[in-house]
Amino acid sequence: MDIIFYHSTFDFHFWKQALESKLPGAQLRQWEEGDNRPADYALVWEPPVEMLKGRDLKAVFALGAGVDSILKKLQDHPDMLAASTELYRLEDTGMGEQMQEYAVSQVLHWFRRFDEYQALKREARWEPLDAFERQDFSIGILGAGVLGGKVAESLKAWGFPIRCWSRSRKSWPGVESFAGQDELADFLSGTRVLINLLPHTPETVGLINFARLNQLQDDSYLLNLARGVHVVEDDLLRALESGKLKGAMLDVFSREPLEPESPLWAHPRVAMTPHIAAVTRPAEAIDYIARTIRGLERGDAVTGRVDRRRGY
Ligand SMILES: NC(=O)c1ccc[n+]([C@@H]2O[C@H](COP(=O)([O-])OP(=O)(O)OC[C@H]3O[C@@H](n4cnc5c(N)ncnc54)[C@H](OP(=O)(O)O)[C@@H]3O)[C@@H](O)[C@H]2O)c1
Repeated sequence: MDIIFYHSTFDFHFWKQALESKLPGAQLRQWEEGDNRPADYALVWEPPVEMLKGRDLKAVFALGAGVDSILKKLQDHPDMLAASTELYRLEDTGMGEQMQEYAVSQVLHWFRRFDEYQALKREARWEPLDAFERQDFSIGILGAGVLGGKVAESLKAWGFPIRCWSRSRKSWPGVESFAGQDELADFLSGTRVLINLLPHTPETVGLINFARLNQLQDDSYLLNLARGVHVVEDDLLRALESGKLKGAMLDVFSREPLEPESPLWAHPRVAMTPHIAAVTRPAEAIDYIARTIRGLERGDAVTGRVDRRRGY
């Protein structure tokens, strides 16, 4: 079995050694320009069109959870991937745990008012604030998929009221489920902390705009862990200025790296990280890919397949 690999920063030799040891008989090779030799599978992140074009692959694995960049390329170059080639993405593979760490630490930071205490410290003010009540700190998770589910689980353990919004209804114990556009307003109006874990699709671009932020409870917070294009950044600033939104923590931005002139850098109530919320962990990703390829070869049902028309 021949597998081609393309990632601009990953250590190819580690991947080769680890994947081949888990898939006896497989040969992993790093794709280079001009390599037209046959292959059965491809493992890619932001691949050149020529790597995949004209190939008869059994499946392509995106080396991340989101497939927006590959689907965008496919839109611009429809012949990049044969219609018969299935596209898979990484499901969790350690990203769930990282998202849990991020979400729990940030929600507790806001819940214990540490953001406000830091602002008071800058003014040398010693001022105990009233504690927030858990029942007033309802968490709303946009996107109830693999990562949204993990985040819901971890925050539930802290006793916060949890609700989620997705296309299809979920029946998760202790989590209120809202489904589809018709229930979005109700979902937002009962949310104090909005956590975004949606995929980037045509329907989700710009979803977090001023009107929707305005539907949240007063003194609310936004945690964007998914994609920058989900948030209209000018609207976010407006919602912060209007007082509706108390704070925002952003891992992702409409343009990355965030441009130096963006007002988000200096905003006192915006915190940020440079798109590191959950990174691909090679060992776990290799386990998942090897397991999925073995399943595909046997004709078993596997998970992680992307519905190209749906966009995630
Ligand atoms: N910042 C980072 O470091 C980082 C790292 C990893 C991933 N991410 C982002 O996180 C995203 C989510 O990952 P995941 O693995 O949890 O994805 P997933 O399992 O595919 O879950 C996506 C969820 O979004 C819902 N959804 C999709 N389109 C919707 C729509 N139009 N309206 C309402 N709900 C919709 C889906 O609803 P259904 O359940 O009904 O299908 C599903 O619950 C990725 O796409 C990626 O962009 C970011």
